Order: sequence, then C-alpha cells, then structure tokens
Amino acid sequence: MLGWTQRRLTPGFSVPWEVSVTRCDIVGDWAQVEAILLAMKALVTGGAGFIGSHIAERLVRAGHSVRVLDNFSAGKRSNLAGFSSDVEVIEGDIRDPKLLSVAVAGCEVVFHEAALVSVPYSVEHPVETHEINIRGTLNVLEAARAARARRVVFASSAAIYGDDPTLPKSEAMLPTPISPYGVEKVTAEHYLRAYSALYGVETVALRYFNVFGPRQDPGSPYSGVISIFVDRAVAKKGVTIFGDGHASRDFVFVADVVDANLAAATREGISGQVFNIARGQRTTLNELAAMLGRIVGREIAVTHAAPRAGDIVDSLADVSRAKARLGFEAKVGVEEGLEELVKYMASTPLSS
Ligand code: UD1
Repeated sequence: MLGWTQRRLTPGFSVPWEVSVTRCDIVGDWAQVEAILLAMKALVTGGAGFIGSHIAERLVRAGHSVRVLDNFSAGKRSNLAGFSSDVEVIEGDIRDPKLLSVAVAGCEVVFHEAALVSVPYSVEHPVETHEINIRGTLNVLEAARAARARRVVFASSAAIYGDDPTLPKSEAMLPTPISPYGVEKVTAEHYLRAYSALYGVETVALRYFNVFGPRQDPGSPYSGVISIFVDRAVAKKGVTIFGDGHASRDFVFVADVVDANLAAATREGISGQVFNIARGQRTTLNELAAMLGRIVGREIAVTHAAPRAGDIVDSLADVSRAKARLGFEAKVGVEEGLEELVKYMASTPLSS
C-alpha cells in the first residue's frame, strides 16, 4: 500500500506529498508536476458504501490520495475491491468526534457520504437517524474546521423538497420535507452554509435525486427501488410497487453523481451553495418495471401495496443551476444505466 505521505503517480515516479513545487527538485515532465499540484488528499466518509466507494475509486484512479471512513453498517469491504491497496481505510463512526479528527487530519477535501439513507427507516427511527444525519454531519464540519480542510462536499437529498407539488424542484424553492430524513438533510445543509459563512470552511451541498448503479445493496426492505427491482428481475421474481405506480423519480446513474462531486470539489466561487444532482427527467414506477421487463426480456409481475408513509409522490429536478455553475450534466440515460446494472447484478453474487 502506498504510504499516506508518499504516493506514486507512475511507476518509478514518487515524491513526498508535502513537497511544494518551489522546493521540489523533480526534473522533467511538467504534466507530471502539474498532476501532483492538482492532486488532493481526500476523505470520503461512507467511502465503502454505494456512492462513497464510487467516489473513492474515481479519486484513486485520478491519482489522488484517498482515505475512507466507514463503520461498515451498510458499507462493504467488497465495494473497495480492485483499489483497496490504494486507499487508507479507517473503520469507525461519524458519531465519534475524536475519530473524525484523526480521519480528517491532513485532508484538503471531505466528501461526506456517510448517512442513514432510507426514508422509511427514518420514519421508524427518527432519533437514531437524527444522530447520524445531523449530529454526524456537524461532527464532520467541526473536524474539517479544526483541521483547516479546504472544502466539504455533502450528500444532501431531493427528500428536502417534500410534498410541494411544484415540478420541477428548483433550489430556489422553500424546502418542505415530510420525513425525518428530509428534515435531517435540510438541517445539515443549513449547518454547511453557516460553516461556510462563519468559519471559512468551503461547503457545497449536492441534492441527490434517486441514484442507482452497481454496488447499491438490494438486500433490505429499505434499499433503493431500482436495486430491489433489478435484483428481483434477475432472479426471475416479481416486484412490489407501493401505491398505484404513478409515483415518479428522477433517476441518475452513479457515475454521473461522481462527476458532480468532482466538480463540486474543484469549482471556485460556489461555497455555501446547494445543487440539484439529477437527469432532469422523471420515470414512474410503472414505467420502471416495464423498462426492466424489456431489458431482461420478460414481463415483470407487479403486486401493488399501500403507499409508504413519508414518501414523496413525484420528484423531478430543475438541473439548470448545476449546469450553469458546476458545469454538470448527467450523461447516462435511465435505460442505459439499467442495462449496465442488470449485467452487473447478473454477474455479481450478493456479497456481505
Ligand atoms: C431515495 C434514496 C434516498 C435519497 C432520495 C433522493 C435509498 C434507499 N433512498 O429515497 O437516500 O436521498 O432517493 O430522492 O436509496 N418503492 C416501491 N417498491 C419497492 C421499493 C420502493 O414501490 O420495493 C417505491 C417507494 O415507495 C418510493 C419509490 O419507490 O415511492 C422510491 O423509493 P426509494 O428507492 O426507497 O427512494 P426514495 O424514498 O425516493
């Protein structure tokens, strides 16, 4: 494993991390020197989870130094397979401020993905999700402030828009969350903005809409709908739709969400801001089941059940702010992403 203060960009080319370009005696390729200057040390909280592991992997492949903090409640070591020798892994919880100060030390950017991500779980366990999603985020911000990290990029959620019927949801709308999870994410956003204004920690909140892709765990009733549907379709089983199936979501593929995170970490002049991260296109649950049936070549049997408490009905993002200020535009279509996920799930046995 590469040491924390020593990293190699290409075989045989290594420099101590702290060397500044004015003191560094590297002779030769300016592109290499530039790459070193642009490389960052990053912490990914929840870095062994679904989205966090994709961010960590992309950072590693781009030559950055990456530390992952994960309590492995939802994250898996198998999500780091293929690049685990290039990340430093700290096992621990964002509810532990002391551990966080160790984890953030020396990092320039923190990608804060650790969270309890399920809306219905938050409805059943609001105090527990409050501790993780609000208190845990405050701990991350405090650690970033103490460590003088440059920027915190936070995984917020479309759930903050709640039951406002206006579509598409724009960042200018007043948040009206209807679940503890939505309340927690918008509260955390307020903390981010205050830290940006008060303490000089740059902060950016990304309001993820419904992210899907490889490594999303289908194994619990609290899992994301696409992971559950694809898992069942591949196993030739039917699916349950809560409600009449006209509820809709703006599904976005995980690789696009990684792009958004990298832009949010590097763009200047966006501290204290929030951005919708989505495709700007909605798909109903009925359409999703039909699309999946076409991909697997078999009609998916659908059972309808009562709508879940706390669920919003429709979700569709206005993506113009992310395009204008982050230069972000999702590239992967829903059907294209689903095809890739079906292939992945058909070839990957469930691992713990
Ligand atoms: C999801 C994410 C949340 C994210 C939010 C952003 C998960 C678990 N939740 O919440 O972290 O912040 O998007 O918008 O990834 N459904 C079914 N059948 C099922 C499962 C779900 O019909 O078997 C329905 C739900 O009732 C809901 C819709 O699918 O109407 C989406 O549910 P879900 O995938 O859990 O996502 P969100 O609650 O939107």
